[in-house]
This record gives sequence, C-alpha cells and structure tokens, in this order.
Amino acid sequence: MQYLFTYEERLKNFDWSLSENELEYKKGNIINIGWYCSDRICLKGKADKIALFYEGFGGIEKKYTFNDIRLAGNSIGTFLRNLGIKNDDRVCLFMDRIPELYLSFLGVLKIGAIVQPLFSAFGDESLFVRLENAQTRAIITQRKHLPKVRKILDRLPYLEFIVIVDHNKIKPLEKKEVAFNMEESIPVENMEIFPAHAESPSVLHYTSGTTGQPKGVKHVHYSLISQYLTAKWVLDLRDDDIYWCTADPGWVTGTSYGIIGPWSLGITQCVLDTGFSAQAWYRFIEKYRITMWYSAPTAIRSLMKAGDEIIKEHDLSSLRHLASVGEPLNSEAVIWSEKIFGKPFLDTFWQTETGSIMITNFPGMKVKPGSMGKPFPGITGVVLDPKTYQPITEPGKIGLIAFKPDWPSIMRSYWNNKEKYEEKFVNGWYLSGDKASIDNEGYFWFVGRDDDVINTGGHLVSPFEVESALLEHPAVGESAVVAKPDELNMEVVKAFITLKPGFTPGPDLELEIMNFIRKKLSPLAMPQDIEYMEKLPKTRSGKIMRRLLHAKEWGEDIGDISTLEND
Ligand code: PRX
Repeated sequence: MQYLFTYEERLKNFDWSLSENELEYKKGNIINIGWYCSDRICLKGKADKIALFYEGFGGIEKKYTFNDIRLAGNSIGTFLRNLGIKNDDRVCLFMDRIPELYLSFLGVLKIGAIVQPLFSAFGDESLFVRLENAQTRAIITQRKHLPKVRKILDRLPYLEFIVIVDHNKIKPLEKKEVAFNMEESIPVENMEIFPAHAESPSVLHYTSGTTGQPKGVKHVHYSLISQYLTAKWVLDLRDDDIYWCTADPGWVTGTSYGIIGPWSLGITQCVLDTGFSAQAWYRFIEKYRITMWYSAPTAIRSLMKAGDEIIKEHDLSSLRHLASVGEPLNSEAVIWSEKIFGKPFLDTFWQTETGSIMITNFPGMKVKPGSMGKPFPGITGVVLDPKTYQPITEPGKIGLIAFKPDWPSIMRSYWNNKEKYEEKFVNGWYLSGDKASIDNEGYFWFVGRDDDVINTGGHLVSPFEVESALLEHPAVGESAVVAKPDELNMEVVKAFITLKPGFTPGPDLELEIMNFIRKKLSPLAMPQDIEYMEKLPKTRSGKIMRRLLHAKEWGEDIGDISTLEND
C-alpha cells in the first residue's frame, strides 16, 4: 500500500503549526469547530460533496452534502439561539445515531454553546448525574427517550428546554418541551457564527473514574488542531475516501473522529444506526464502498467469531485502511485482519481526556501485533516509575503511561472538579491512568489500567456508579463491583453483594435486582454476574478491598493483605 510519507519523515521538525497552517488558522484568530466542519468546506468548493450517508432501522437511508450540513447546523443553532441559549451554556445531545445528532453537534458549536453528547441508552440515573453536574440548560432528544428525561426533570432546576426532534403533534408537549423538526425547518442561509477563540469551551464528554461520580472532560475549540492532523495522518484520510467510524458520539471517538476529524478534512462519512451484526456490517462496507474503517477490538473479535465464510459473500475490496481504538487489540485480531482484508487493523491509543490519538501504529510503520505503536509526532510519551514519577529508560519495564501536557487537544479541566483534575498531573506529566512498557524500538505495549475502572468492550465503567445503583435496592446491604475476564469483551462487570437482614439470596432476587438497576444504568454497565457474600473483604479502616475480589476473579495472587480486617 502506498502511503504518502513515513513516520520518521513526519517526526522531523514537527510542529503543530503545520496543522494550523493547513487550517489557515493564526494565533488569536477565531476558531469555531462548527464552522470549520461545514462552512469552510463549502467555501473550499465542496458544498455539493456528500458529507454523510446515513442508514437507520427499517432500511431508512439519507444523505447530506456539506452544504446541507452547513444549513442544518445553522437552522438548529438559530433555533437554540432564539430560545435564549448562548455561548458557554451546556446543551446535551441525547439521541440515537440519527442525522440530527451529528447536525445538532455542529449547530450547538456554531452558537458557542458547549455540546454535551450522552449515550442514548443511558438509564435515567446515569443521565441525571451528568445533567446535574453540568447544569445543562437544554437537551435535544427523541420522543422515544422522553420518559427518561421527564422522570428526572423535577430534580434538574437548570434544565430549561427539552427539544424534541421528532415530535408527532399527536400528543401535546409537556412542561419545558419544544419541538424542532429539522426536515421541516426553514433553511437558514446565513447566521452569525459565534467567534470562538482557541480556549473557548467546545465539547463536554463524561468519563468514569474509580471513585465519585463521572467527570466532565472539558475540551476547547483549539482541539481541532490535533483532531484534524491525527485524522489526516493516522486515519490516512484522503479526499476521495469513504470513511466509517463505528463509534457512537456519546463517546469521544464518535466526536473527535466521527465528526470533527473527518468533516474538518471535508471527508464523506457513513453512519449505520442499526446495531451490530457481522452480516449488516459487511453489507454496509460493500454497499458504500467504504475505504477507511475505524473500529474497536470487541467489534473486531465479534467479526472473527462470526467466521470467515460470511466474508466471502461480500465484496470488501474497497477497504484501503483499518484502525482500532478503545481497548487492547490482541495480536490474533491484527493477524486475522491481515489475512482476511489483506491489511492489519492499526491500533491507536488515546482517551477522552487526550481528545485525540496519542500512541499509534502510524501508517507504513512496521506493525508489531499486540503493540499500540509509538507516540504521534508532537507527543512526548513515556512510562513513569510509579514511585518516583521519573521516566523509565529500561526497555520492557512496566510503568505508568504519561504525556507532556502540551498538545492542542488536551482537556482543559474536569467540570467543577479541580481536585480530580490536578491529581492527573505529577512532575510536569499528564498521567493517563494506564500501565505499559516500551521496547527497545520505542513501541508501547499496553499492560492494563492503574485503577479499578472496568473497560468492557471498550467502554469505561465506574465500579462506584454500579455499586451506588445496587445500594439503592432495598435488599442490598453492601456492594463491590470488579472486572471479570471475558473472551469477547475482555472484561465484563461482576458485582458482589451482601444482603440486608430478612432477605434470602436466590435467582429471583438476583433478577429483581438486575431489573432494578437496568433502569438506572446503561446496558453496558450492567453486571453479567451477581454473587452473594456473607461479608465483603474490608480493610481495618472499613474500606472494601476490591483488589482482593478482582484477584479472585482473575486467578491472580492476592498480594499484600496485611490491612485486611480480621474477625
Ligand atoms: O485504558 C485505556 C483504554 O481506554 C481508556 C480510555 O477510554 P476512554 O476515555 O473512554 O476513551 C476511549 C477511546 C479513545 C484508556 O485509558 N484504551 C484506549 N485505547 C486503547 C486502550 N487500551 C488498550 N489499547 C488501546 N489501543
């Protein structure tokens, strides 16, 4: 395969001004991501180029040119502005992967408001904590998700508007609800775009930690500089590409590389909103002649499991370049893709907080299956000694993955959580919270998380959030949630609980508890297994020792238990 340049060439004299120059941005200028992803592409002569091919349930198909997405962004932005939404207000997107989700993203940014995308499968409690924390002023949603919003509305004094994109006019609107139908709206040819500057806030993504409620990761419009160049170089996006990012914009991959990266480059992208099935995915690639595919290890493992026979039924010869993110990409998956598609999935490592790809198998670079590759040009990545926080120079020695916090898209804060934000920086390094080793050629090898966060199928789950939901059930006395090994998802959620007096363990109660928490959490955070215990292991100071339960699940040595409480 022909790549346009090598990693080494790109490293030489690298400076982020390369990206700034291509985007014709100069320090101090206005930089509005919404404008860059639509208006600027039209001004560059691509107004009639397709920006989005969409396919939804029931075979619904839609397509939008860059001019269409420019106008739609204007219409939504103007509608919100007329409601009184202004810059820095938080506007939540709570929708399935319908076109309105993508176009509202642009509209919110165009008026300088902060866009807060949330996964539409979140239960009401997961939705509530994130809206409450961000003091969100408006939420854009679909009829089908209204019951969840209505249920928590009275506890959200800051939430003033519920914008429904598919109001059917049959049932009357209720408290705080307004209807906005994109298809029926009058196109707004010109609008005043908010003059965002480099540090103006843009996107607020929630991510889970080990303790406390999820944290709102605040990004700024200047993040575009990183997202544009990483999309161009790592995803190797070229003008005639048809690109498919399989991630939901409720997560950072779905915004950084499912909206901002490709559209700021004027690339045509495809969205499939019908859930996973190997058959449907291969058909989609064949139908749209997808050339660049950015996906995740669990999906790749699921495709492997579906078998190679089904692949033969499809013409997948359009695929030119593949990449993966979100969790460890096992070497089997890399080797499999090389065999099946004639090219490997290139692993990329990054986080909600980093906003863009940090460590990557750069196109053209020698692939070592199982390794995440090397830092993107302009990124100083190291592993630190966990005690001294000094970089480890010895190849193969495990340490904490850390980065010099100087790239354009690094988060600017955790929303209203200075303390947690400051904990992420030590000795002038940003701590990722992950562990790895670096080999003698500079390749990073992922080892695991440095905390109790569970990564199930690429989605981070906070044990705390699941434990809190469990504790709300009247039968649950105490709870501890850990990761359990799983062939497909690598990790799944497992809960240990003790019961309050008067309750008897058994499958009926387990089912009742599962149903109870299902309404509160997202399906991804649901425990696959609940185990009853007489008591949970605790330290003498009364802290539940998740570490012990984790070790038991993984068949590992339980380590130092000197602080374990004795009877
Ligand atoms: O633990 C790492 C894992 O996912 C975490 C970041 O998750 P999130 O903020 O939700 O963002 C995911 C998509 C950018 C990391 O701290 N992770 C991400 N990529 C990889 C990975 N683990 C191993 N290999 C990767 N390539």
